[in-house]
Amino acid sequence: MEKDIITLAIETSCDETSVAVLKNGREVLSNVISSQIDIHRKFGGVVPEVASRKHIENINIIIQQALDEANITFDDIDLIGVTRGPGLVGALLVGISSAKAIAYALNKPIVGVNHIEGHICANYIEHKDLQPPFTCLVVSGGHTYLIYVRDYTDYELVGRTRDDAAGEAFDKVARALGLPYPGGPVIDKLAKEGNKDAVEFPRVYLEHNSYDFSFSGLKTAVLNYLNQARQKGEEIIVKDVAASFQQAVIEVLVEKSIHLAKERHSDRIVIAGGVAANEGLRSLMEKRGNEENIKILYPSRILCTDNAAMIGSAAYFNYINGKVSDLYLNVVPNLDLA
Ligand code: KG4
Ligand code: ZN
Repeated sequence: MEKDIITLAIETSCDETSVAVLKNGREVLSNVISSQIDIHRKFGGVVPEVASRKHIENINIIIQQALDEANITFDDIDLIGVTRGPGLVGALLVGISSAKAIAYALNKPIVGVNHIEGHICANYIEHKDLQPPFTCLVVSGGHTYLIYVRDYTDYELVGRTRDDAAGEAFDKVARALGLPYPGGPVIDKLAKEGNKDAVEFPRVYLEHNSYDFSFSGLKTAVLNYLNQARQKGEEIIVKDVAASFQQAVIEVLVEKSIHLAKERHSDRIVIAGGVAANEGLRSLMEKRGNEENIKILYPSRILCTDNAAMIGSAAYFNYINGKVSDLYLNVVPNLDLA
């Protein structure tokens, strides 16, 4: 039996300072997440400079807490994983600098991780038997990707958004409805009580057979609906608008995912990223999956939104596939997946 690999992972790409300890890429020994959401909420979104400063204040405390909760010391670490992009440059730099300092001091290997790959790998933690290949939908605040995962660390990017990301659409529409940041969870909750057929919003499928997405037209349609209703003095039922908007987003996400899975004869669709926490998306995907004999997998809520455990998993799979970084590792704010 091979020796266990203990990974220390750091994630600071946006507004969560998170540090995790993993054993062999699938077993989480600790996953500490310090969210700055309460600080950014009063600005209606993430303020990059504030995020960087908060990461600096927090990072050493969170690293120690992750080690303590995992009941290990620095000497037990075999590998350091850290998010190198995509994300906010100043925020990423805090994590990268800390990770490089630790790797240098311990003389241990370091792996710079793509944040989106991390989101996908959250599923390896949740589903212990999950192995590639599979069809994957990544829906986060900054990205919307349809991916065919050929192997660990080997991705075929089949579709992406041409404008707003799915999570971004949720956040912008929430703001227009006067709801707090981040909008996704609030809309998700309201949508459960609202009527999804109340307002007819467009479903944007783009060209025939395209796997790309576009959500900015839908956002504009919601804004126009709200403006017209206000001008006419009509009552706006927020939960109905939320439910109708959410339905327009998830129908397109689900149908394109199912279409790709069928085209590739793939019997599993894996969902990842913050929007994978959406209950409407999960249940519609499961309903359609049942009809098409496709199994639907997604991580538990805490592993959907930003966390370092998913970065540790991705670092491990890169490491065992020989993809290791060095101390020249730098941040890449607009890093692509493939
Ligand atoms: O993956 P994530 O934590 O950060 C990025 O990498 O962007 O995703 C954050 C996004 C936000 O846009 C947030 O509104 C959305 O995920 N989100 C949700 C839900 N929970 C988080 N969107 C819809 N329904 C949810 N339950
Ligand atoms: Zn993320």
